[in-house]
Amino acid sequence: MVLFLLLFMYGSPYLEIIKPCSCSEDHTKVKCIQTEREALLSIKKGLTDPSNRLSSWVGEDCCQWRGIACNNISGHVIKLDLRNPFQSGSYDSSAYKNSCLGGEISSSLINLKYLNYLDISLNDFEGIQIPEFFGMLENLIYLNLSFASFAGEIPRHLGNLSSLTHLDLYADSYTSLMWELNATNLDWLSGLSSLKYLDMGQVKLGHTGADWLQKVNMLPSLLELHLHSCELESLPPSLPFINFTSLFVLDLSQNSFNSSIPQWLSNLTSLAKLDLSSNSFQGTIPNDFVSLINLEYLDLNFNAFVTSQMPSFFGHLCKLKVLDLSGNKFIGNIDGFLGNFSACLNNSLESLDLSYNQLAGKIPNSLGTLESLRYLNLAGNSFWGSIPASIGSLSSLQQLDLSFNQMNGSIPESFGQLSELVELYLQVNSWEGVITEAQLMNLTSLEYVILISNTNQSLVFNVTYNWVPPFRLKQLDLESCLIGPKFPIWLQVQSELTSVILKNTGIWDTIPEEWFSKISSQITYLDLANNQIMGKLPHQIVSPKLGVIDLSHNYFKGPIPLWFTNATHIYLQNNFFSGPIPSNIGDLMPSLEYLDLSENLLNGTIPLSIQKINNLQVLSLRSNQLSGELPRNWNETQGLWVVDISNNNLSGEIPSSMGLLGSLAILMLSNNNLHGEIPSSLQSCSLSSIDLGENHFSGKLPSWIGSNVSFFWMLRLRSNLFSGIIPRQWCNLPVLHILDLAENNLSGDIPDCLDNLTALIYGNSSTDYDILFRFHQYYYMEQTAIVTKGRQLEYGRTLQYVNIIDLSVNNLTGGIPNEITSLVDLGTLNLSMNHLTANIPENIGNLRWLETLDLSHNQLSGSIPGSLSLLTFLAHLNLSYNNLTGRIPSGNQLQT
Ligand SMILES: *[C@@H]1O[C@H](CO)[C@@H](O)[C@H](O)[C@H]1NC(C)=O
Ligand SMILES: *[C@@H]1O[C@H](CO)[C@@H](O)[C@H](O)[C@H]1NC(C)=O
Ligand SMILES: *[C@@H]1O[C@H](CO)[C@@H](O)[C@H](O)[C@H]1NC(C)=O
Ligand SMILES: *[C@@H]1O[C@H](CO)[C@@H](O)[C@H](O)[C@H]1NC(C)=O
Ligand SMILES: *[C@@H]1O[C@H](CO)[C@@H](O)[C@H](O)[C@H]1NC(C)=O
Ligand SMILES: *[C@@H]1O[C@H](CO)[C@@H](O)[C@H](O)[C@H]1NC(C)=O
Ligand SMILES: *[C@@H]1O[C@H](CO)[C@@H](O)[C@H](O)[C@H]1NC(C)=O
Ligand SMILES: *[C@@H]1O[C@H](CO)[C@@H](O)[C@H](O)[C@H]1NC(C)=O
Ligand SMILES: *[C@@H]1O[C@H](CO)[C@@H](O)[C@H](O)[C@H]1NC(C)=O
Repeated sequence: MVLFLLLFMYGSPYLEIIKPCSCSEDHTKVKCIQTEREALLSIKKGLTDPSNRLSSWVGEDCCQWRGIACNNISGHVIKLDLRNPFQSGSYDSSAYKNSCLGGEISSSLINLKYLNYLDISLNDFEGIQIPEFFGMLENLIYLNLSFASFAGEIPRHLGNLSSLTHLDLYADSYTSLMWELNATNLDWLSGLSSLKYLDMGQVKLGHTGADWLQKVNMLPSLLELHLHSCELESLPPSLPFINFTSLFVLDLSQNSFNSSIPQWLSNLTSLAKLDLSSNSFQGTIPNDFVSLINLEYLDLNFNAFVTSQMPSFFGHLCKLKVLDLSGNKFIGNIDGFLGNFSACLNNSLESLDLSYNQLAGKIPNSLGTLESLRYLNLAGNSFWGSIPASIGSLSSLQQLDLSFNQMNGSIPESFGQLSELVELYLQVNSWEGVITEAQLMNLTSLEYVILISNTNQSLVFNVTYNWVPPFRLKQLDLESCLIGPKFPIWLQVQSELTSVILKNTGIWDTIPEEWFSKISSQITYLDLANNQIMGKLPHQIVSPKLGVIDLSHNYFKGPIPLWFTNATHIYLQNNFFSGPIPSNIGDLMPSLEYLDLSENLLNGTIPLSIQKINNLQVLSLRSNQLSGELPRNWNETQGLWVVDISNNNLSGEIPSSMGLLGSLAILMLSNNNLHGEIPSSLQSCSLSSIDLGENHFSGKLPSWIGSNVSFFWMLRLRSNLFSGIIPRQWCNLPVLHILDLAENNLSGDIPDCLDNLTALIYGNSSTDYDILFRFHQYYYMEQTAIVTKGRQLEYGRTLQYVNIIDLSVNNLTGGIPNEITSLVDLGTLNLSMNHLTANIPENIGNLRWLETLDLSHNQLSGSIPGSLSLLTFLAHLNLSYNNLTGRIPSGNQLQT
């Protein structure tokens, strides 16, 4: 006891005598030096420390404070480690920021004269400069200022740190993208003659020109050089002499080098890791690379290397573990490239990425020699044929990606040996052949499978109906492969699926209702579209995580279930669902953005709760048996841009509150029993297509169309009771492609300003509005009935190519205005069954794309213009029931 007290009172000197070992963990033996303690306290004073990380910086013995280490003999502070300990793995920006130190770094730091280790990384100094006085800490060996939000020019004073071996200035920040470290001049680097490790990633070095390399070349001890994303452009092709021949790691990724690879790189024969990815290197990879025999990791992805053959010398780099040549312009086959790897006695390649080049040919059997492969990515090339049987030798393979190629063969039997395989991506190829149980039996690790075939169901899964597989999949995406007709047990037993797509897989079966309840509790994406699946859905579907459900184009029947879900997209179109739409649909699915229930047998009214779904963008209920009126209380907070309720039995008027839907672009209400006028409130919407055909609408054609709203793509008001004239304002519709006013009571002249419909002059090529229309069509396919060539046809995908003016079956009078002959892109012009007089315009032959011309049942007179014979596409011509005289012109289509 006495001895212990003595030890305690007199401290370390005794301990050192009694226990001369260097028990460095025993801090009682050294005592901190008073001046250094004060220096530390004034450093603490300058810093902000919201999470109180420096709370241990109290009391006498500063050597025991957190982050401090002292020399055991002299007691001088030698290490200051203020690195933020926050684990950014569970990344939470506010928690991270809270654990950052910030503020000011006191110049008292220079009183720590014996400091050899300084780490202040991962803090947030909010754009202050790196203090110049760091250059006075001349004993520093280790300096880490990375991820600390320093900004501005790196002070040249750092060049005085001649003992420094490790310098990390990586200039990223987890708190702000605002700060930028730069260096216009690297002269100071040459002072760091002991440097072994240098990281200046993200430091903007663009202004140093080619100088950066000369300065780095003054560092003969350098082992690692990291210059990721430094805005470097210049990499000199030659160096008279290389100082850093021991370089072990070189990272020049994500700069702007666009030269060829300099010859001298091949002299760095100690290199184990070389990363030149994400630059614009050109030309070929020099053959001299064969001298880099120590390379284990080579990343050249995202450059512009071109070569007629894959460089085959890689096969001689027998230590290579990781090779990434993806995203370049390599062409040719890979036979020679792979062949050479077999020369290595112990092939160690674990990861090979050749994706997104222009490689072609069959995948050679020599693939099987890469027995250590864990990751193989050949996606985005033009490989064809079958997967070689030798794939079975890759017994460590965990991830295989052959997606987006032209594979048109089969998947070999030996595939079944890949028992380590976790991820399999085979989508967008033209697979053929049969997949058997034997091929799947040993794939015990499989979790992610994507297999999309271009050829319709020519890859067949031939598996016993009640086979239970050894794998538990998380994601399954099979499209256009044949799995059916039965819904197999091997799918039903998958209990860990979070995403399932079985599209066009030939399933012609009833899926057990329990499967839906079982699978839906964890599933986020469920797509069974384009099968012939029968049966009902469970009465309720409770599925909080479900985001997208697509059961479209099947034979589902029964009522639409009550969905308890936050789904955003529901596609149930083209089934046999019947009964009413659940009235609380808007309450149960408040997150809905896309609801498509079209082409079913739904009846009853449109639930009012739909008006509560604020995120709803597309609402399609077309082709059902819905009755009653349109909901009245549309809300300006709703973002609907498509409302399609065509082909139902709706009655009543269009409520003027629809004008509150400011984003509404597509309004399709054709073929109902609606009446009344077009509400003028609709001019507040962003309408581009409106189809009110086949209803009982009446009143005048509104003149706000063309004056307040001009960007209509389609105006279809066919078969209603509209009366009055065609307003001149309607000429001012520069993107209009479809104008169908047929079968109304319109009177007056055809406006002589139709040559202002410029989309019918210049075609549907490239105006912003045509691009917008195609964009709309991509998300929601507009469909409508078009009368052309004497027949009425439903247009969907091809609607974008339709150019039509149909004013037939009205009471229009006067002549056919000459201006109409400017609309050279018109495909159909139908003015029949009016009271038009005078001549057919002489230049009618200007309408060179015209397929249908119907002027029948009018009072036209004069002769048939000879220019008609210029119309080489004309397929349907009706001039009957007029007062035309003279010769029928001849030539071209008129002859046939
Ligand atoms: C370097 O950063 C400082 C401070 O942000 C700035 O004033 C200076 O213009 C930058 N220099 C270059 C060459 O970008
Ligand atoms: C190589 O490094 C030494 C020491 O820094 C330096 O004196 C010499 O100039 C360097 N050589 C070249 C070619 O940069
Ligand atoms: C690179 O190596 C070659 C052959 O060993 C040698 O002739 C050349 O001088 C070296 N280049 C440099 C820059 O050291
Ligand atoms: C699956 O594994 C068993 C046992 O290891 C083996 O006998 C069989 O050949 C393997 N099947 C395939 C297709 O590789
Ligand atoms: C499926 O397998 C069965 C039994 O092995 C066989 O009789 C049948 O021909 C196979 N079908 C196809 C399409 O390969
Ligand atoms: C929808 O999401 C909210 C919040 O994310 C959650 O509270 C609610 O339970 C979810 N709804 C359903 C039906 O799971
Ligand atoms: C809906 O259709 C069903 C038969 O499919 C019928 O029994 C029911 O009365 C209809 N409801 C309405 C509102 O028309
Ligand atoms: C529109 O919706 C908002 C939010 O749901 C609601 O507060 C507001 O009362 C609604 N307005 C009308 C006119 O229904
Ligand atoms: C036709 O277009 C011209 C030029 O855009 C415009 O000045 C004129 O007012 C338009 N005419 C009609 C009737 O819209």
